Amino acid sequence: MIVTLASVKGGVGKSTCAIHIAAYLRSLSSTLLIDSDRIRSCVAWSKRGKLPFPVVDENHQAKAMRDTRYEYVVFDTPGSIDDQGLMELADGCDLMIVPAVPESSATDGLLYTLRRIQRGKGEFGVLLNRVRHNRPQEATELREAIAETGARVFTTEIPDLVAFDKASAQGVPVYDVDDRRAARAWEAFEALGKEITNG
Ligand SMILES: Nc1ncnc2c1ncn2[C@@H]1O[C@H](COP(=O)(O)OP(=O)(O)OP(=O)(O)O)[C@@H](O)[C@H]1O
Ligand SMILES: [Mg+2]
Repeated sequence: MIVTLASVKGGVGKSTCAIHIAAYLRSLSSTLLIDSDRIRSCVAWSKRGKLPFPVVDENHQAKAMRDTRYEYVVFDTPGSIDDQGLMELADGCDLMIVPAVPESSATDGLLYTLRRIQRGKGEFGVLLNRVRHNRPQEATELREAIAETGARVFTTEIPDLVAFDKASAQGVPVYDVDDRRAARAWEAFEALGKEITNG
């Protein structure tokens, strides 16, 4: 199964989600993360610490995939991709995940993009990320607005937690971070992983 993380907007959590989706999938079977962003956030994450799956950039993906057959491939993409690019990315994978942070200023652009990429053949779903527990209404409103476009929104929401920043700084998955909300952070990705793999 090939899972691609992509968005028109930068900084919405593609790399953070790619790392944790790969960590979940690795608990099921062999998993490779391909970092195709020139900034190489995922490669850097893995070099800072230790991840339970290999991370390679796109220049090394062919070799990595020749040497091992991976059941799951997670593909992280650059910060800004136009609607046509997103459509092509969705077509090239089994499931494209578009993280979106609930904040009203960005909603119109997101809805426009979702309507455009729905014209393509690829399967995709929107993942609400950085959901603040004290502002649940923001996520509900965004969920409803996305549902009106007909696009899929994953039931699981990823909470806004500093544990994710710590995980990045330490180069580990969030379950290895010493933080009182680390377990909560990981539970969200376990729930998302189940949603993804159950179809
Ligand atoms: N659920 C979350 N809770 C708290 N912080 C988060 C969460 N998700 C992402 N972040 C933080 O937001 C910032 C951007 O995240 P990330 O690098 O994953 O986004 P991105 O979409 O890959 O960015 P880019 O477009 O630059 O590649 C990072 O500092 C990351 O730690
Ligand atoms: Mg990134």
